Amino acid sequence: MAVLPIRKYPDPVLRQPAQPVSVIDEKLRRLAADMVETMEDANGVGLAAPQVGESVRMVVVDFDPENGDPRVLINPVITKRSGRKELGEEGCLSFPGLRTRVKRSPKVVCEAQNLDGEIVEYQAEGLSARAVQHELDHLDGFLFVDKAGPSDKLSLKSELEELEDNWAELHG
Ligand code: NI
Repeated sequence: MAVLPIRKYPDPVLRQPAQPVSVIDEKLRRLAADMVETMEDANGVGLAAPQVGESVRMVVVDFDPENGDPRVLINPVITKRSGRKELGEEGCLSFPGLRTRVKRSPKVVCEAQNLDGEIVEYQAEGLSARAVQHELDHLDGFLFVDKAGPSDKLSLKSELEELEDNWAELHG
């Protein structure tokens, strides 16, 4: 297993809608294992494949960050959202140092394949529900800062510009 480099905003791969996984093979299993290791190394609660430069519909989510319960979700879909949306603070490993408030459903049900190709249903609440929604957004090219309220967006502007400048310096 290996810790992979994490793509930072505004890397274009983060805006690309990810492709469905059609074959669960050794290469995908290795990517999943590396993503779990990368998430744990960064003390994150979730990581989506585009964040390590692979535009495929796979995420890893730690459903119990205190004790560690990392799960691999392939072709995940949210099948149910319940409760009134709640505002809560989020960060993202592709936005180092940046945090903002995003409205999310407090409870979700998510269906995904596991590495054996079986369909598994996940009932997530609170932080896990937030993580599932955040990671699944990544697969459609949506980023948490897109969902910040207007005043939070305004205060994020300079931090985003700083990340854009850093990225341009490395890749421009
Ligand atoms: Ni993220």
